[in-house]
Amino acid sequence: MYERIDQIVREAGRIVLSAHHISDSVKEKTSHCDLVTKYDTMVQDFLYRELLAAFPEAGFYGEEGDVLEIADKRGYFIVDPIDGTTNFIRHARQSSINVGYYLDGRMEYGAVYQPYTDELFTAQRGCGAYLNGKPIRMNNLPLSESIVMYGSAIYYRQTIPLTAQLMAELLPSVLDFRRSGTAGLDLCYVAAGRADAFFECCLRPWDYAAASLIIQEAGGIVTALDGSPLRFFDRCSVAVGSPQSHPELMKLVGRVLQQPDMKGRLP
Ligand code: IPD
Ligand code: CA
Repeated sequence: MYERIDQIVREAGRIVLSAHHISDSVKEKTSHCDLVTKYDTMVQDFLYRELLAAFPEAGFYGEEGDVLEIADKRGYFIVDPIDGTTNFIRHARQSSINVGYYLDGRMEYGAVYQPYTDELFTAQRGCGAYLNGKPIRMNNLPLSESIVMYGSAIYYRQTIPLTAQLMAELLPSVLDFRRSGTAGLDLCYVAAGRADAFFECCLRPWDYAAASLIIQEAGGIVTALDGSPLRFFDRCSVAVGSPQSHPELMKLVGRVLQQPDMKGRLP
C-alpha cells in the first residue's frame, strides 16, 4: 500500500533535479534566512495532487503556505517538499523530500528522498527501516563515541543562546559534530549509522515527522529536547540518540536547561 508513496516521492525528486535558474524565484518567508523558491511550491503541489489521488481519505499538512487540511481525518500526510531549501538554492545537492503519514495519533509511514544521490529512506511502523529497500540499523554507541549532527534553528532567534550553550557543553563529550542544513536527512543519516545523534532547538513537523519513524524503526530514540514526546502539529525541539546515548544526552541537556538564562527558550 505504501509503495505508491515511495513512487510519488521519487517522481517529485525529478522536479528537484530538473530545476534551473533557481535563484530567480527566491523569496523571503519569515526572515532573510527563511527562503522559498517556486520549486518548493511546485513540488508540494505535485505531492498534494498525487498523494491525495492515491489516498483520497487522507488529509494534508504541508510547509508551503502552511496547508493544513486535517479536520476530521484519521490520517494525514506531513510534507516538506524541499527540506534544505537554502542548500537547494546554493546547488549544494543536499536536500530531501520528506513525506510522513500520520495515522490515529502516531506516525505510520515515513519516506525521505535525497534525489541527488537517489537515496530513499523509508519505514513503516513495526516493519524496520530501509535505505533503497535494504534494512538499516542505528549504531548503539555512548555519547563519547558519537558523531552528533545538529541544526541551528536559525528561523527562531530566541533559541540561539541555547543552541550555542548546548554546542559548548556537548562538544567536549562527543566524538565530533556535523551540520548539513537538512534536518530530515540528518535523522536518516543517524538511522543509517553515518552519524549517531542529533539535536535542534526548534523544528516544524514536516522537518522530522517522516524521519522520526525511520529513527525509531532503526533502533533509535527520538524525543523533544526536554524528553517529552514529539509533537506532530506544532513546533518542537528534537533530540535523537541511541539507547546508550539518548539518556546521556537528556542528562546533559537537562543541566543546560536549568541554567538561568536558558529557561523558556524551547518551543
Ligand atoms: C530547514 C532544514 C535545516 C534546519 C532548519 C529547517 P527547510 O528546513 O531542515 O537543516 O536547521 O531548522 O527549517 O526550511 O530548508 O525546509
Ligand atoms: Ca522546506
